[in-house]
Amino acid sequence: MFDNVSKIFPGGEVAAENVSVRIRKGEFVFVIGRSGAGKSTFLKLAGAQEEATSGKIWVNGQDLSALTRHEIPYFRRQIGVMQPEFGLLKDRTLFDNVNLAMLATEQPRKAGKKRVMQMLKLMGIEKRAGFYPREVSMGEAARALLARAIICGPSILLADEPTANLDPDTSWDMMCLMDELNRQGMTVVVASHNRELVTIMRKRVLTFSAGCLVADEKNAVYNARAADAMEERRVLNERMNRKRETQ
Ligand SMILES: Nc1ncnc2c1ncn2[C@@H]1O[C@H](COP(=O)(O)OP(=O)(O)OP(=O)(O)O)[C@@H](O)[C@H]1O
Ligand SMILES: [Mg+2]
Repeated sequence: MFDNVSKIFPGGEVAAENVSVRIRKGEFVFVIGRSGAGKSTFLKLAGAQEEATSGKIWVNGQDLSALTRHEIPYFRRQIGVMQPEFGLLKDRTLFDNVNLAMLATEQPRKAGKKRVMQMLKLMGIEKRAGFYPREVSMGEAARALLARAIICGPSILLADEPTANLDPDTSWDMMCLMDELNRQGMTVVVASHNRELVTIMRKRVLTFSAGCLVADEKNAVYNARAADAMEERRVLNERMNRKRETQ
């Protein structure tokens, strides 16, 4: 849950402004908006990768501003993260890439390895376990990323553009896998530019514009406002006017 959360970077970029939203356990939510709208920032705030400048964030009943440095790794284990900047290690096989995430926990190695194979199987890539990232298709690599994100059994999946480099069929497969995880009880939050997918899925959609949450719709289609430069101008103008009034 976000309560009036703002994130202003040191350079003055407003990446989130007074964002209040509640995502319930077991929901599937898309986060959409133009480039720079604050989608990634929203996910990073929720995953305790960025700290809010003001406002409060609760995730799984935990007040993120109250987390100590020591507690953050434990908190993160409840969260599965897929991010464009956090790809597969090129010099490790898919198995090792997924296994690395497992080694970070205190699981016994043998049980861990078994779980890695289970995960690869679940994603339909167990035959690619011994292959290196360059030897597999983009779709297979994407599934390995998903396997890595959920191997620790997180209750929440935060996926930032998980279909960014995928063709329509493979993107659809990825969405179906995430939908399946959601049906099994995982809360899933996906930032996406993929209009077709967002529209087909008919999930709850949060639309961001210049850091502001400008729409929150159930069973939604890809909102035209999400891609609308006018909407962004409107939000920025409002911000300017408010600033002037307070000066
Ligand atoms: N670490 C950072 N330091 C400074 N500014 C940042 C940082 N991260 C993001 N920003 C700024 O915050 C705003 C929101 O960025 P964010 O990455 O959340 O957008 P986005 O909606 O994910 O965009 P995209 O669709 O391009 O991924 C942008 O203006 C961006 O330049
Ligand atoms: Mg982004």
